[in-house]
Amino acid sequence: MKKVLVCGAGGFIGGHLVSRLKNEGFWVRGVDLKENEYGNTNSDDFILGDLRDPEIAKKAVKGIDEVYQLAADMGGAGYIFTGEHDADVMNNSALCNLNVLGASQKEGVKRIFYSSSACMYPEYNQMDPNNPKCSEDSAYPAAPDSEYGWEKLFSERLYLSYQRNYSIEVRIARFHNIFGPQGTWNGGKEKAPAAMCRKVAEATEGSYIEVWGDGKQTRSFLYIDECIEAVIRLMNSNFSGPVNIGSEEMISINDFANMAIDISGKNLIIKNIEGPTGVRGRNSDNRLLYDKLNWQPSMPLREGMEKTYKWIESQIK
Ligand code: NAD
Ligand code: GDD
Repeated sequence: MKKVLVCGAGGFIGGHLVSRLKNEGFWVRGVDLKENEYGNTNSDDFILGDLRDPEIAKKAVKGIDEVYQLAADMGGAGYIFTGEHDADVMNNSALCNLNVLGASQKEGVKRIFYSSSACMYPEYNQMDPNNPKCSEDSAYPAAPDSEYGWEKLFSERLYLSYQRNYSIEVRIARFHNIFGPQGTWNGGKEKAPAAMCRKVAEATEGSYIEVWGDGKQTRSFLYIDECIEAVIRLMNSNFSGPVNIGSEEMISINDFANMAIDISGKNLIIKNIEGPTGVRGRNSDNRLLYDKLNWQPSMPLREGMEKTYKWIESQIK
């Protein structure tokens, strides 16, 4: 039986990935600083440990055939665009990547997946909210708008250099805002989908919700199940990437907030306030994904938001 390791198994995407890999019959080990908050970590083995420590990374990869590296110090706009966590984000995530990749190569791991982000794309291509450019080949000249994005770009290069110089195969995805049940929904690290659901669910009928920025900034959001499907397909393919894993259903943030309001059935209005906003526009470009995997996500945003709203409402209750 193939043995796989999920780094960041206590987190949102890692937790869902463990469940999927277990369903597919793999022997799964998870490693994280914390256990999964919203569900049982149903891995065969779980190491509660810090991947900034090379000894933990070495222990985690012992006897493993394939690694999924999702551990990172990450969050939504309220976490990565304020500048207050830049040093931690760069240090913590880079150390996880250096240690996990180094230990994997020494252990003889055959293949490793790395979760990069759309935040590595240059800001100058994401100034027009209605026409952002995020094709994979637009990454250079590099100019991400956050240190989080710079670390992702460095780590992409790190993984690719190991593939070139050692016999370890890498697969790299650039995730575009993944959302769904069991994702962080409060505490400051939550992203817009969870934040909108929480604000709407907590608002009293006839009141308002606060939305950061003028609401004209755009994004696309990918539902967790389709993200996991894409990761598995990429891992099983012979394409290294980097490749976008995201949705092409772009929406303005005010329209997105209104979608959450509509789902709730409440009568609420939007109040736009100052806040960390990041790039003006972002949308996944799935041409390469479709070309290489002959597959792309298709779930309408509204469907994913209905499921997410229901889950966050139940968490609040
Ligand atoms: P998450 O925060 O829920 O999960 C990350 C996990 O990594 C957390 O459980 C955290 O405890 C763990 N971790 C952090 N530092 C660690 C350390 N030193 N040792 C061990 N574990 C550590 O985030 P997520 O949404 O599940 O994201 C997973 C990956 O995908 C991350 O690399 C993230 O940067 C990337 N990504 C996510 C999105 C998204 O929209 N969710 C978008 C782009 C990229
Ligand atoms: N989080 C949040 N909370 N965002 C809000 C809110 C709110 O209450 N109100 C409005 N927004 C706006 C933000 O200002 C931003 O312009 C937009 O919604 C999207 O915010 P996020 O979902 O927090 O982050 P992001 O899309 O800028 O970046 C996320 O996606 C990247 C990949 O595409 C982050 O999760 C990154 O870590 C990730 O790599």
